[in-house]
Amino acid sequence: MLIKRPAGIKPSEITPYDFYRRRREFMASAGLLAAAGASGLLSAEAFGQDGAKLSGFRKSSFSTSEKPNTFKDISSYNNYYEFGTDKSDPAELAGKFKARPWTVKVSGEVKKPRTFGIEELLKFPLEERIYRLRCVEAWSMVIPWVGFEFNQIAKQVEPTSKAKFVEFVTVMQPETMPGLRYPVLNWPYLEGLRIDEAMHPLTLMAVGLYDQMLPSQNGAPIRLVVPWKYGFKSAKSIVEIRFVEKQPKVAWEVANSSEYGFYSNVNPDVDHPRWSQKTEKRLPAFFANHKTEMFNGYGDQVAKLYAGMDLKKFY
Ligand code: MTE
Repeated sequence: MLIKRPAGIKPSEITPYDFYRRRREFMASAGLLAAAGASGLLSAEAFGQDGAKLSGFRKSSFSTSEKPNTFKDISSYNNYYEFGTDKSDPAELAGKFKARPWTVKVSGEVKKPRTFGIEELLKFPLEERIYRLRCVEAWSMVIPWVGFEFNQIAKQVEPTSKAKFVEFVTVMQPETMPGLRYPVLNWPYLEGLRIDEAMHPLTLMAVGLYDQMLPSQNGAPIRLVVPWKYGFKSAKSIVEIRFVEKQPKVAWEVANSSEYGFYSNVNPDVDHPRWSQKTEKRLPAFFANHKTEMFNGYGDQVAKLYAGMDLKKFY
């Protein structure tokens, strides 16, 4: 994370402060800061069409028994660079985001390509999954997601034997997403998984948080959650899923391949080039208060996916 890069300028040529100042200037000129404050976008409006309650979901045995963070913590401290790079930007600036109508196109190496409406996706068997989310920036939260296993989608479209990877494409709504004005990343935000990672039962398509539809800032109306990987693998507001033969070039790898790799498994033994990954602060703490666990504590379920791989090389 933490790359601030206006067009045509190399990452090494710009300071975070410079980016910050320009972004503030842009937002002030567009009246966005004032509008966000005046209309109280942090409340109901930020949830757009998605303040609705979700019901009829089962509890899951995959949930951690750790205490979840509050709804407020989870929906006010976010990384969603399409809205801005400050943690408070997504909650402040996502009020105009349109999460309806919404479709997810599923294409590529599949026998039955199709486009799902969000209403169809909400009919998959929903479960509450309380997962730890470990961000690469060394903070973590415990989040009660509501969603369904990604493999439910795969079952419908029937991947061919050529499908070795899955690519997730996220939405671009320039009229509601001020951050898209800045080429911080090569938009749209793209993520990818190996097919066996995607099909693993822990890999979730989340549609809700606690008992309500996802707030816009958390990736409404549908996002990926891969709990044993750093949070940036969990692409928000997905509009397209492609089953592909070749390993996709994912957003953070394209932005800075020396710092972010394709796999991005949580690994306390592989430091980020600029900081240690051995510990984390469990929000709302200010200081590191947890030891980071290999695969974010999900090793019993997923370590076998990487048997024989050098995880220092494939980070
Ligand atoms: N998805 C999109 N489209 N854009 C983003 O900037 N940020 C990622 C990930 N998904 C991001 C994204 C990062 S860095 C993290 S840590 C998680 O979302 C944060 O999810 P949360 O805000 O719901 O905790």
